[in-house]
Amino acid sequence: MRKIEHIKYALLCEKKEVLENVFLEYNSLIDFGIEDVDLSTSFCDINFKYPIYINAMTGGSDESDNINKRLYNIAKKIDIFMFSGSYSPNLSENSYYYPKKMGANLGLDKSLEDFKKCILELEPRIIQAHINPIQELIMHEGDRSFNYKEKIKDLVANIDIPLIIKETGYGMSKSTIDELVKLGVKTIDLSSNDGTNFSRIEDMRNNKNREHLYNLGYKLEDSMINASEYIDKIEVLASGGISNSLEIVKALAMGAKSVGISAYILKKIYNNESDDDIINDLNEMIYEIKLLILSTNSKNLTELKGKWYFRNRSVK
Ligand code: FNR
Repeated sequence: MRKIEHIKYALLCEKKEVLENVFLEYNSLIDFGIEDVDLSTSFCDINFKYPIYINAMTGGSDESDNINKRLYNIAKKIDIFMFSGSYSPNLSENSYYYPKKMGANLGLDKSLEDFKKCILELEPRIIQAHINPIQELIMHEGDRSFNYKEKIKDLVANIDIPLIIKETGYGMSKSTIDELVKLGVKTIDLSSNDGTNFSRIEDMRNNKNREHLYNLGYKLEDSMINASEYIDKIEVLASGGISNSLEIVKALAMGAKSVGISAYILKKIYNNESDDDIINDLNEMIYEIKLLILSTNSKNLTELKGKWYFRNRSVK
């Protein structure tokens, strides 16, 4: 029931402008063609053809089974990676559908044994461990105390597949990232507060309207700046509110290894768009990503890196 309510209310979250103060350095003196632009990237020791992925959303209901099947079909056909939503419903007796050999997801409240069970059953190539203290505290039935750092140490030492520490729509501060680096985490997903907002979602579930709680955390712009000095020490994935190619290329220029998309695709599914419609839309997005990278006179993500500026900084 909760999972379905999350979907229902996530569809009502409005997205903010993402990275609106960040601009790409346009350079018109180009000596190559769009077919020369290589979008490949890598994170978690895996090479990917494109720098976008479907981020964790659903699982744990018949309706989610259908969504996960569709997301998996879309991901396979475009050749992008996907993370299914939290595997927690299947830690008890359930057997809901989660695609195998893709990305798995569990909360950091779960035990090492739970993570091992999920890895055994789904054989994921990567596992995300999500942190969501604000959501838990706002949620009636949520956790009231946390031992995240201990859990992370445990996972880093004992999980033998790549691990991502992932936010769930509140972004990350510099000190959070600094601590994650010190804890030996290799990859983080900043999942910032420009889109799906679990404070708002939990309030909608309970007929509340506490606006003052909805801007907690960081926008992607601030999370990326917080991450900027760690970009060579930890792999940074950007997500939260992403809905177009320009936002994606700005995040990549700021040093993200790849960019996660969630509610944008979910909204299309609930808008009765077919898989083919969504595949066409994402393929168009991929073409535009190439176009925008070319517009900075770059042939790949390495060349693109750093080619951005702030509106309020002198233009390079
Ligand atoms: C989520 N998200 C999420 N994250 C996670 O780590 N585990 C999960 O199970 C879920 N479940 C979930 C359900 C639904 C319906 C939504 C929309 C989202 C959070 C998601 O991965 C992402 O971090 C946020 O949604 C922010 O990105 P968008 O939606 O603004 O692009």
